[in-house]
Amino acid sequence: MKKILITGASGLLGSNIVKSAASQFEVYGIYNKNRVCVEGAKLFSLDLTEDGSCERIKEIEPEVIIHCAALTDLDYCQDHKDEAYAHNVLASINIAEAAKEAGAYLMHISTDGVFDGKKGDYAEEDVPNPITVYGQTKLASEKEILTRCPDSCVLRTSIYGWNKMEKLSLAEWMLNKLEEKKELPGFKDVYFSPIIVNDLSDIIFKLFETRPIGIIHVAAGDSCTKLDFAYHIADIFGLDKNLIRPVSLDDIDLKVPRAKNLSLNTSKARGLLGSPLPTVTEGISRMKMLREDGYLEALRNG
Ligand SMILES: NC(=O)c1ccc[n+]([C@@H]2O[C@H](COP(=O)([O-])OP(=O)(O)OC[C@H]3O[C@@H](n4cnc5c(N)ncnc54)[C@H](OP(=O)(O)O)[C@@H]3O)[C@@H](O)[C@H]2O)c1
Repeated sequence: MKKILITGASGLLGSNIVKSAASQFEVYGIYNKNRVCVEGAKLFSLDLTEDGSCERIKEIEPEVIIHCAALTDLDYCQDHKDEAYAHNVLASINIAEAAKEAGAYLMHISTDGVFDGKKGDYAEEDVPNPITVYGQTKLASEKEILTRCPDSCVLRTSIYGWNKMEKLSLAEWMLNKLEEKKELPGFKDVYFSPIIVNDLSDIIFKLFETRPIGIIHVAAGDSCTKLDFAYHIADIFGLDKNLIRPVSLDDIDLKVPRAKNLSLNTSKARGLLGSPLPTVTEGISRMKMLREDGYLEALRNG
């Protein structure tokens, strides 16, 4: 059975990948501060910024490493540059060294936030220009990974889904507001290509069979505004759309600058997979189906 190691096992993406991988592979998972358990997976705590973390990973001798761990809070990263660098860049350097020494295929998860959002429909060849500390550290992590492990791949994405821990992805936050019949704002001029973590997880498993190298954009096959995303959630979950208030990014004073168009072009991924990527509404429909099937309880209870 293939031995795979997943970092960020307590996070949104990592926890969903671990859950799905546990029934198919020999799975090792790393979390940092938030202890998690998943049946069938060997999970342990390790701070990837520390010296010696590379040694611990090497001992496992994984064939594939999926590096999801990161400091993802935009505001926190902006105010804590050194910490953002440590968790996003230094940790990635340690992972890259471990992958190199273990001879593992490394898949590094990155973000649409490496772009400035002036153009949209970003392809892999487009020049990144991050406007936040988070984006800058993620871009630096990509460079470290690809320099140290040229046979690895960097998957840039934009994600949502069900969290294992008590925190909310954008879709969960919107859904909660709508279900509680509370008003919520939706940006009419911010574009993105969000993919549900369960679809991304399935795609990661397909991709590591052929071990593609370099940067690949894996996101929804189409894009929408954050306002339309909220409308789609209301439609698909049967909730009141009138609670959604269209707003413009220009009207709101945010502490951290936000890019307007971070939509990703997924043609390369489509070619590698031999099929189009799921659309935004297909992803939200899957999110609804997962809840109806009891997935959320299964995810949270390990
Ligand atoms: N969320 C998004 O909207 C989004 C969009 C695009 C790309 N991405 C990328 O997708 C990946 C996964 O994001 P996510 O939203 O799933 O993240 P998340 O929910 O914020 O979880 C982050 C994970 O990283 C772990 N971690 C952080 N620092 C660590 C360290 N020093 N050592 C070991 N583990 C550490 C955390 O562990 P503890 O919780 O146990 O401390 C947690 O498991 C990231 O690379 C992110 O940049 C995310």
